Amino acid sequence: MFQVNDNYQKLPGSYLFSTIGKKVNAYAQANPDRQIIRLGIGDVTQPLAPAIIQALHRAVDEMGNAETFRGYAPDLGYEFLRSAIVENDYRARGCEIATDEIFVSDGAKSDSGNIQEIFSLDNRIAVCDPVYPVYVDSNVMAGRTGTYDAQKEMWSDVIYMPCTMENGFVPEFPKETPDVIYLCLPNNPTGTTITKEQLQSWVDYANKAGAVIIYDAAYEAYISEDHVAHSIYECEGAKTCAIELKSFSKNAGFTGVRLGYTVVPKELKCGEVSLNAMWARRHGTKFNGAPYIVQRAGEAVYSAEGKAQLKEQVAYYMRNAAAIREGLEDAGYTVFGGVNAPYIWLKTPKGMTSWEFFDYLLEQANVVGTPGSGFGPSGEGYFRLTAFGSYENTVAALERIRKL
Ligand SMILES: Cc1ncc(COP(=O)(O)O)c(C=O)c1O
Repeated sequence: MFQVNDNYQKLPGSYLFSTIGKKVNAYAQANPDRQIIRLGIGDVTQPLAPAIIQALHRAVDEMGNAETFRGYAPDLGYEFLRSAIVENDYRARGCEIATDEIFVSDGAKSDSGNIQEIFSLDNRIAVCDPVYPVYVDSNVMAGRTGTYDAQKEMWSDVIYMPCTMENGFVPEFPKETPDVIYLCLPNNPTGTTITKEQLQSWVDYANKAGAVIIYDAAYEAYISEDHVAHSIYECEGAKTCAIELKSFSKNAGFTGVRLGYTVVPKELKCGEVSLNAMWARRHGTKFNGAPYIVQRAGEAVYSAEGKAQLKEQVAYYMRNAAAIREGLEDAGYTVFGGVNAPYIWLKTPKGMTSWEFFDYLLEQANVVGTPGSGFGPSGEGYFRLTAFGSYENTVAALERIRKL
């Protein structure tokens, strides 16, 4: 008789987005005359930039021609894309990363879920709380998280690093020493980040503790402040302790196109064992490459036209972020984020829980956001709005909230 991986049975239901969907649908059916504005989803809405569309068209044509047709992509990704990444995302910022330290993938969700595979099941993980749920859930599936306390919504073997307004959303070094530290900066959901100096102290801490940092920089393109690092490799010593995950989803609108990459420096070792070699082996065995046409589209992100067009796209979303921030502040809310990330994190008013505020906003303003408690226990009492809607809808939503 076969047995299943019991760890999957331990996963508490991920009701966040399905509960939101159900509540919104029920409200819409009961109130068909109301126009609901959705500022809940973390998905982009602007179309792909023209430079990317042109690159896609060209690549599609190449695939229709025997001379230029491409089959399986190289394991690590095409050289043209990895070189563009090295030049633009690293060398331009003073970081020396080699092309064979870049692993092109189909996005940061897969990479952030898969990366735990190369670590021992005995390793203790530390996560910011609240945070993108994939880090904890993928470790639950692997059997690394112990038992779940439904009351506290916490796993016995996970080290939680609360990020709240009390500590300025800056994770503190935990009392117990972790082996694997997940840092998502700028953070989803809080939209906050830390300074380069603070990141340097995490790098120093990890090197000293013999820990590895999984650095998820999916929102790097939204950083507007000079004292914030765009890559963890801007910090001294990061190559011996950090893996960096990047996505083309939020900087270039690839959520439906799918492209990302992971950096595993060759200097990152556990004794004599190279993590770069392990990840190369894993990638080669379990992944058959991002599509050629998508990698050509990724290359266009780094062209002069691509860069200019995407700068405008990011600015479009950040104009929304500023409108949300200012609108909420005017209305008396306590607001965080929205400066280096497309997320705005607000303190729920009058001691409401995250879900109470969700209902209140849906019913009174017909605006949908995301309850903070869905991202971890320390998210209770907070609420996330995203800047990924249209400007018109964003302004209209804020107008409604202001009138409450
Ligand atoms: C922090 C973080 N990492 C990764 C992802 C997923 O990125 P991708 O679309 O590249 O899989 C998301 C998506 O919302 C995210 O918020």
